[in-house]
Amino acid sequence: MNASGQKTRIDWVSRSCHLLRATEAEFEREKPFGGLTIATAIHLEPKTASLLVTLQAGGAQIVATGNLNSTQAETIDYLQGRGIEVIGRKTTDDADHEADIAAMLQRRPDLLLDNGGDMFAKVAAAPYANLLGGTEETTSGRMRLEPMRDRFSFPILVINDIPIKQFAENRHAVGQSLFESYLRFTNRSTNGKRVTVFGYGACGRGVAACFRNAFAVTSVVDCNPVTTLEAHLDGFATPLRDEAVSSADVIVTVTGAPDILTEDDLGLIKDGAILMNGGHFPVEIAVDRMMADKTVNKVERYEDGLETLHMADGRRIHILGHGHMANLAGPRPLGNTIESMDLGFTLQARCLEWIAKGRVVADQCVVPVPAEIDAQVAEDYLAFNR
Ligand SMILES: NC(=O)c1ccc[n+]([C@@H]2O[C@H](COP(=O)([O-])OP(=O)(O)OC[C@H]3O[C@@H](n4cnc5c(N)ncnc54)[C@H](O)[C@@H]3O)[C@@H](O)[C@H]2O)c1
Repeated sequence: MNASGQKTRIDWVSRSCHLLRATEAEFEREKPFGGLTIATAIHLEPKTASLLVTLQAGGAQIVATGNLNSTQAETIDYLQGRGIEVIGRKTTDDADHEADIAAMLQRRPDLLLDNGGDMFAKVAAAPYANLLGGTEETTSGRMRLEPMRDRFSFPILVINDIPIKQFAENRHAVGQSLFESYLRFTNRSTNGKRVTVFGYGACGRGVAACFRNAFAVTSVVDCNPVTTLEAHLDGFATPLRDEAVSSADVIVTVTGAPDILTEDDLGLIKDGAILMNGGHFPVEIAVDRMMADKTVNKVERYEDGLETLHMADGRRIHILGHGHMANLAGPRPLGNTIESMDLGFTLQARCLEWIAKGRVVADQCVVPVPAEIDAQVAEDYLAFNR
């Protein structure tokens, strides 16, 4: 309840997560995590709260921290009210975040739920005995952990790389929520605007489709020629990179790679263009380097995470959420749809259950979730929606 006696958004989200509620009831009976500590380093927002409560029902002691920039204070209060330990507060400071991750690992958790590889990267440098394994949510985390695979002697299941996550969250939900974030941040139209999407992976495909469906003239830039061909056959313009940058009214980066747009592009970017990022780490647009560039006269900051670079030649370039993942930044960030996260987080809960029960082995390290789990979650979702 809030101060006016109304139910909160966290209550709304919780009631809407049908799969997690069913899983919670099952875990309550079977206690798959009895006696185990689970550490989670994932965005602390209402949908995650629903996941953590589900894991707690399974008998786990939970210790949680967030990711850069996305932690929501109401979610921390809610979790602490449920007896879940939360380390750290909202931060955009890498060193603070590192310290929070280190504090989490001092608890010697038995299972890790990671998002971006922050915890596993630390474990690779300082392993400890009781760790049974865990999950990694993202593409960015998988890319970071793959080279470290030899240093892990336990299973790590990557949620990102299975069909449900790819189409339900990355394609459909990220597309919708980044599009919604553009509207939410800017209150500007998309009709007739030239929108360039960098990256035509699962997320980029959804983003490009959503802007096109909203009557934007949408183009795609991808460093992979095969993926670029796919975008072309899907009906998107696929101009050369510099042409795409110089003609765009809106540029969305969603590649997982750093320095997609940098200070070197400042001379190219059109007057009035809006830049936003959907990739996991705030590295795709080199915002701080752009702002420090000698061609920038001043930076004007508006409320709600809008920043404008005033260029020496009179052009203005706008950046949303300082280049952080836009759908979890700015005013009232709702993130991906509840249904998509109910699916993704049920996959998380099932993977952790399998690891706790020893149903996956150490060789299954930085590999996709077993197809059997994917199929079970798909069947459960369809059963609710028939
Ligand atoms: N905002 C969200 O809610 C959310 C949700 C899921 C994933 N993500 C993040 O979005 C990013 C993309 O995820 P994905 O699943 O689409 O990844 P993906 O690997 O499926 O696709 C990435 C695409 O970007 C292209 N690319 C890489 N470097 C490039 C470059 N320099 N220039 C142009 N194209 C380049 C690749 O060729 C690929 O086609 C990751 O950082 C991921 O963690 C964000």
